[in-house]
Amino acid sequence: MLSKEENEFLTRVGPGTPAGALLRRYWQPVAVASELTAEKPKKRLKVMGEELVLFRDGKGRYGLVGEHCSHRAASLYYGTVEDDGIRCAYHGWKYDVDGKCLEQPFEPKGSTYKDEICHPAYPVEKLAGLLFAYMGPKLVPLLPRWDLLVRDDGLRTIIVLPVHECNWLQAMENSVDPVHTYYLHGHQFKVRGLPVAEYYYRPIGEFQFEEVRGPVWAGLIKRRTFEAGEQMEGERGHPLIFPNMLYVPQGPELVIHWRVPIDDSNTYIVWLSFRPSKNGQKVEQPEDPPVEYLPRPVTPEGEYEMTSFPGQDMMAWETQGRIFDRTKESLAHSDKGITIYRRLLREQIKAVQNGGEPLGIIRDPANNKIISFEVSRGMARKEYVEGQPEYYHGRSVA
Ligand code: FES
Ligand SMILES: [Fe+2]
Repeated sequence: MLSKEENEFLTRVGPGTPAGALLRRYWQPVAVASELTAEKPKKRLKVMGEELVLFRDGKGRYGLVGEHCSHRAASLYYGTVEDDGIRCAYHGWKYDVDGKCLEQPFEPKGSTYKDEICHPAYPVEKLAGLLFAYMGPKLVPLLPRWDLLVRDDGLRTIIVLPVHECNWLQAMENSVDPVHTYYLHGHQFKVRGLPVAEYYYRPIGEFQFEEVRGPVWAGLIKRRTFEAGEQMEGERGHPLIFPNMLYVPQGPELVIHWRVPIDDSNTYIVWLSFRPSKNGQKVEQPEDPPVEYLPRPVTPEGEYEMTSFPGQDMMAWETQGRIFDRTKESLAHSDKGITIYRRLLREQIKAVQNGGEPLGIIRDPANNKIISFEVSRGMARKEYVEGQPEYYHGRSVA
């Protein structure tokens, strides 16, 4: 159980909050690159409570700037994108991708007032069809080259989940909850007679956590031992990558999940799914991976659709409350991973408050050629879930 103050400390992410300051130290995916089109090279976004406009200027550079004009706060979303920036629709002030004010059409000739304007702007980089933003202080770290973003021996798909109407920490705590898969997934599939049930319906014997504090990534690997006669399996595990990612095998694919706070009570979730080719053959890559947008998994009656992984998880996370009130929880033995994760989160928030650098920030290019993971690919998993990605992708099956 947490005190009200501790809960606020770990969950709130707006500008100036302790957890917000930590999350801003890491590159976060904020949009899919193909969402900016030639007709409309701009998108309005909210990230960690900040209202922003993402745009691609005529030279192809990406900018993420404060939505409200530094002049008199009209929305830059309604501005026009030009070769070198975005021009406010109200009085024509123009900003480049770095937030530099380039023009103030109605100031006297020779005025240097524009040089005093410092409009909020964050660096953006494109990788694997995703646009990542860094919203922390200078010096900007390297954008991590997670293997699934850069491997060329398979095909990628970007999957954008519906906005989750809950705080980001609810999704992250689920990632270190090794037993939820039995009832929330296995049992729910089983009672509906769905074939994917068996894998997660094996009794869970033991579960362990390994805390990782490496030079390129930090986090927690959870490992379970499933007990079911011939189908017994000790997992190699899969990691929660600190602070807000999960790396997990899903059927025949390997998938990274990012959980990026839109604000304190809404979360943007995007997956990068990678299907390795047979025998490790190289595959010609498209310019951008295809993108799937999952609908909100609800029935016509407005209830959660409990026939897919995303629907089941969304039910659990959203029904905990917009910001789960952890003064009312009763943590148990099976929540050990949550306790470890919160301890790490608290420790790293404090490290940032004390002027330090948190874990898992990459600055040396030698450490960033490709960041690879070994995860469970056991025979039991292969037997049960290969060829059934529709459950993971949230398509309704019953
Ligand atoms: S409010 Fe944007 S130029 Fe005036
Ligand atoms: Fe789950």
